[in-house]
Amino acid sequence: MTEIIDGNAVASEIREELTGAIETLADAGARPGLATVLMGDDPASQTYVNMKQRDCEEVGIESVHVDVEGDAPPSALYETIGNLNEDPAVHGYIVQAPVPDHVDYREVIRRVDPAKDVDGFHPENVGRLVAGDARFRPCTPHGVQKLLESADVDIEGKDVTIVGRSDIVGKPLANLLIQKAEDGNATVTVCHSRTDDLGEKTRNADIVVAAVGVPELIDGSMISEDTVVIDVGVNRVEADTEKGYELVGDVDFESTEERASAITPVPGGVGPMTRAMLLYNTVKAASLQEE
Ligand code: GUN
Repeated sequence: MTEIIDGNAVASEIREELTGAIETLADAGARPGLATVLMGDDPASQTYVNMKQRDCEEVGIESVHVDVEGDAPPSALYETIGNLNEDPAVHGYIVQAPVPDHVDYREVIRRVDPAKDVDGFHPENVGRLVAGDARFRPCTPHGVQKLLESADVDIEGKDVTIVGRSDIVGKPLANLLIQKAEDGNATVTVCHSRTDDLGEKTRNADIVVAAVGVPELIDGSMISEDTVVIDVGVNRVEADTEKGYELVGDVDFESTEERASAITPVPGGVGPMTRAMLLYNTVKAASLQEE
């Protein structure tokens, strides 16, 4: 039987664990605070940001949201960032990506106080992660690690093929999985749009992580029997539904499920974990700042 890895259930456990830590911090006068910043009005980003705010409320993290007009100059966003860097009630914050085309996201990230960078995107935090001394593990890679752990998948010595080389998922995940650590020691192959014979790389893997943003790119024919498949993709595709679209992953669930030993669904797999690990990083940020 193929195990369907339930991201909602694992995320819920993590939120429960965090609730205790949050109350302890609050009792000491340091209730954790998270801010979300959204520049522009991308509907998917608005949905994500709303969900993050709701998560905070559920676990007792103080949250604030800042909207910046989509056609404002970059300096307007920089000013918001400067204010959040100075605000002692905000222990961590994120600037939701993507930002409008006239804003350079790398420059945005460089301006975030690394101690408050709960996305883990600042170059200082990227460097620390690569050096094996992570302050904040980026939320989605960390969520993938937690899902593997929850499904009792021991990755030591295993072949992991990651499809996708993004700064947010593929690159940090590869770095985490190769580390000399209890939740590392894997042999990692990172594939991307220029990879020759992708199917050969995925069929050779014990674990496949799809994080490429192409709807249903990976199907059952690209997977060997008993592979663990983690689907990070969240793609909106047109569909005859109330909203006019549906969410599909980077993996064709039906054909892949038949061969995999375990697989994450979309939605309800990695997505809720990303949000849970943001709460985790916020609590960590608050603990570090209140030490
Ligand atoms: N857009 C898509 N994923 C993310 C994320 O993890 N953090 C931020 N800030 N923006 C995103």
